[in-house]
Amino acid sequence: MSDAVKLSVRNLERVFGEGGSSVTALRDVNLEVRESEFVMIVGPSGCGKTTLINIIGGLDRQTSGEVLLDGKPIDGPGADRGMVFQGYSLFPWLTVRKNVEFGLRMKNVPPKEREEAAMRYIQLVGLEGFEDALPKQLSGGMKQRVAIARTLANEPEVLLMDEPFGALDAQTRVVMQELLAGIRRRTSATILFITHDIDEAVLLGDRVYVMSRRPGTVRDVLDVEIPGERGHNSLVLPEFLEVKKRIMDMLWKESSDAAMDR
Ligand SMILES: Nc1ncnc2c1ncn2[C@@H]1O[C@H](COP(=O)(O)OP(=O)(O)OP(=O)(O)O)[C@@H](O)[C@H]1O
Ligand SMILES: [Mg+2]
Repeated sequence: MSDAVKLSVRNLERVFGEGGSSVTALRDVNLEVRESEFVMIVGPSGCGKTTLINIIGGLDRQTSGEVLLDGKPIDGPGADRGMVFQGYSLFPWLTVRKNVEFGLRMKNVPPKEREEAAMRYIQLVGLEGFEDALPKQLSGGMKQRVAIARTLANEPEVLLMDEPFGALDAQTRVVMQELLAGIRRRTSATILFITHDIDEAVLLGDRVYVMSRRPGTVRDVLDVEIPGERGHNSLVLPEFLEVKKRIMDMLWKESSDAAMDR
């Protein structure tokens, strides 16, 4: 990991609607992701996580503040940022290979080259043998592997992931987390990843941003230092549990404060 800041979010605010019925989803959000860093965001439901990642991805616009990629303000969606969502968002009529090749075809990459690239990424997510399958023939975890391969095939500079494993069962989720940790080791991708799941945040993150309840702002940032390769065995290490407890306490306080307000 280098110290160069890849992505920075400054004083970001997003207000939906106007007047008395307006909703402030984000208030004064500041965060940074360094080159090749894996940064997690956790926060209570409705605190503005999806709003934040959509603004970074260029799918929504902030009310004020800025998002900088390599020091330059972003202006709408771009190939420099690849997004993976909770829903699988594959083209149901295209095979695995064609789904993965899709972005490259849009960029007019020649057929042979894009086929080779697609195969490389299909192998990276462990789906060799399923190139010609259609999405409906795949399990949820496999579909999400295709979605990850498709995004990686476009070689984005930053990967933006919004609860990508949220719809998977607990075991498949751990398998996918280990897969992503492995991809990250091999590709040194820069990743901003949103989750509800504290285990997931601590397992994958170099750093974890904890957001407050709405209007979402950054409550704290924690460094995660866990010895050895990250995987299901990390879940019981004292270093893991220590960070997990600190995040749980913070989120617990957020939700009990919310209950007191009611
Ligand atoms: N397009 C919109 N118009 C109006 N309000 C919106 C819009 N999008 C989001 N909101 C509101 O902004 C707030 C934050 O929503 P957001 O989806 O970003 O939360 P979240 O942290 O991703 O929640 P979850 O954890 O449930 O996915 C919510 O109160 C939501 O109702
Ligand atoms: Mg969300």
